[in-house]
Amino acid sequence: MNLKNIFSIFFISVCITGSAAQEIPLLKTSLVGNRIVEFVPKGFDKNKTPSLILVSPPNSKGKIPSDWTLTPKFTLKNNNAGAVLNLEGNISLYGGGEVTGPLLRNGKSIKLWNTDTGAYSVEGGKRLYQTHPWVMGVRPDGSAFGIIFDSTWKAELITNSNQIIYNSEGSLFKVYIIDRKSPQEVIKGLSELTGTIKLPPRWALGYHQCRFSYDSEKRVMEIADTFREKKIPCDVIWMDIDYMQGYRVFTFDSIRFKNPKVLNDNLHKKGFKAVYMIDPGVKVDKQYSVYNTGTKNDVWVKKNNGEEYHGKVWPGDCAFPDFTNPSARKWWGGLYKDFLSTGIDGVWNDMNEPAVNDNDFPEDKRLGTMPYDTPHKGGGNLPQGSHLLYHNAYGRLMVEASFEGILKANPAKRPFLLTRSNLLGGQRYAATWTGDNYASVEHMKLSVPMSLTLGLSGQPFNGPDIGGFLGDTNGDLWANWLGFGAFMPFARGHACAGTNNKEPWAYGEEIEKTSRIALERRYRLLPYLYTLFYESSKNGMPVMSPVFFADTKDPLLRAEDQVFLLGENLLVVPAFAKEPALPAGIWEELNLIEGEKTDKYQAKLSIKGGSIIPAGKVIQNAGENSFDPLSLFVCLDADGIANGKLYIDSGDGFGFEKGDYAMLTFNAVKNNDTVVIKVSNAEGKRNINEEVKKINVTVLLNGKTYTGSGTLTDGITIALK
Ligand code: GLC
Repeated sequence: MNLKNIFSIFFISVCITGSAAQEIPLLKTSLVGNRIVEFVPKGFDKNKTPSLILVSPPNSKGKIPSDWTLTPKFTLKNNNAGAVLNLEGNISLYGGGEVTGPLLRNGKSIKLWNTDTGAYSVEGGKRLYQTHPWVMGVRPDGSAFGIIFDSTWKAELITNSNQIIYNSEGSLFKVYIIDRKSPQEVIKGLSELTGTIKLPPRWALGYHQCRFSYDSEKRVMEIADTFREKKIPCDVIWMDIDYMQGYRVFTFDSIRFKNPKVLNDNLHKKGFKAVYMIDPGVKVDKQYSVYNTGTKNDVWVKKNNGEEYHGKVWPGDCAFPDFTNPSARKWWGGLYKDFLSTGIDGVWNDMNEPAVNDNDFPEDKRLGTMPYDTPHKGGGNLPQGSHLLYHNAYGRLMVEASFEGILKANPAKRPFLLTRSNLLGGQRYAATWTGDNYASVEHMKLSVPMSLTLGLSGQPFNGPDIGGFLGDTNGDLWANWLGFGAFMPFARGHACAGTNNKEPWAYGEEIEKTSRIALERRYRLLPYLYTLFYESSKNGMPVMSPVFFADTKDPLLRAEDQVFLLGENLLVVPAFAKEPALPAGIWEELNLIEGEKTDKYQAKLSIKGGSIIPAGKVIQNAGENSFDPLSLFVCLDADGIANGKLYIDSGDGFGFEKGDYAMLTFNAVKNNDTVVIKVSNAEGKRNINEEVKKINVTVLLNGKTYTGSGTLTDGITIALK
């Protein structure tokens, strides 16, 4: 061993632990994908650290590229495994999933121990609801790499500028490194390993209205009716815990929600969908069928002495399904059949860190969950293991069970599931939101990097509680937040019990008008948004991207996290943004709704040169026909060319998997004083002639607009005068 090696081991030890750690040699290194390498340390045992992150164990695919440079170093200290990746040069770091703080993660650390953290207050915001042991690095030349620490053990993730350090409180684990030519390619690689979202039903991309809680059928219908009366677009009304009978999951309050089928039917008649909450804690109550069948099926988490583990959540003492066990997951999934038969369209899984409110564990007052040594059964591919191993996977295993159950109950519909807790890779089962934020300007601004970081960590379908959950919201904050929140992938307004009303009309007429404009803008963009979700379901790309994606070599964009891109071609500049770093090149302002330009709260939208954005008309819910007419906004590049795409399908179900969809491509070319736009039906078997009859085109050029119209088959020529 030479001096350099001795120094590096000493350095690793001190950096990771503060005292000596043992370096663990590599057992195996294999190429498992296009520039994806798997690293297995000597002594790795999948029965101690099972993989819950990857879709399936990847196969070896030949030799590691000869130019490969990135190799992690594994360590053990007191049986706790860690890994370090040394970095060379000036690397911009991203990822870590759900984090507070800036988009650029250099010099940050987070704790991976899923936690119910109201107002992100636990450990100064370093510990949140989800676990994403994933970091992406972008080099000055725009090439990039990403590292997955394939472990669910309690851990800390440190992103120093010269090292990525992951210290777990458990056994050795595998590491995967992706090294490709751009961050976009790295994100695609992440999805090759961990999967993508499933294409959501189109209605899930509309606006969602929630509150803890709309506490009676009557109140729910008042809210729904007000949206329609005021012509403010909305697709979904959410039922928080108060619809239940004494917070017993899978039940309905016998007075306030005595007829859920009628309620859901009435919502459907008005073009709304209904999403209901389901928590994991099941009330310990011998008169309650869910508790009784759970006991009969032996699904509960048990303590080391064999007694049921009980912890307090909303209903008081609860038992918790052991989701590590396949038969418990199956039992849980089976509960959705009768529940959904009342016409429920989507499910919200919450408190699934799992949050347990009796924080009286001697080892950590803010643990807020089961004791570390609580055993989990495992089964199938999962070994028996402690809560320290499985805690960070509890929510992810719960949403797997829920997803499978929902799909089985309604096999002809695409499941819509929202979860608070999750694990890297859990985007395969559920969308997410960023938990209990606060109604403050600080949390409003924070919601942009939080959502961006989730998108860069494999979870494109996410968003914050718009307006802020905790605390009262004033009109100014609401309008500012919705002004850009309307362009986030998951757009839901939510409010905590005891706070003021937070619906779009709750702040007076002026703000109501602002809210209507913001949501009308979203609804006009639904065709574009749906196309982005379709693409994301194929390749894992974020729907909402950081602006450095527009030019991965531009150092000025690396830290920008006030503004964001929707897809690659639409720039969203929130009204609060101060001197943002904007991508160079041609960007033309996009106006969609009358009155938006003079409204100080609306985000500014711009289209990238070279692109065509498809849009629809203003509709009140996603079930209405957007394409009557279809609008195309064309922004030419310096060569006078622009391209775009539009994905169309029935909006729900799985017909698209058998070809019942259309992928239109648009191509615009400027020729002297005209722009000619051609449409081709590039993919799919869906006949859209009845759906898309007329196309209106707006060419945006040097701050001016030129309009014209045509049909699918004829092509469209716009005169530039
Ligand atoms: C949790 C959720 C919140 C919900 C509340 C009541 O705090 O994060 O969204 O409204 O529980 O169910």
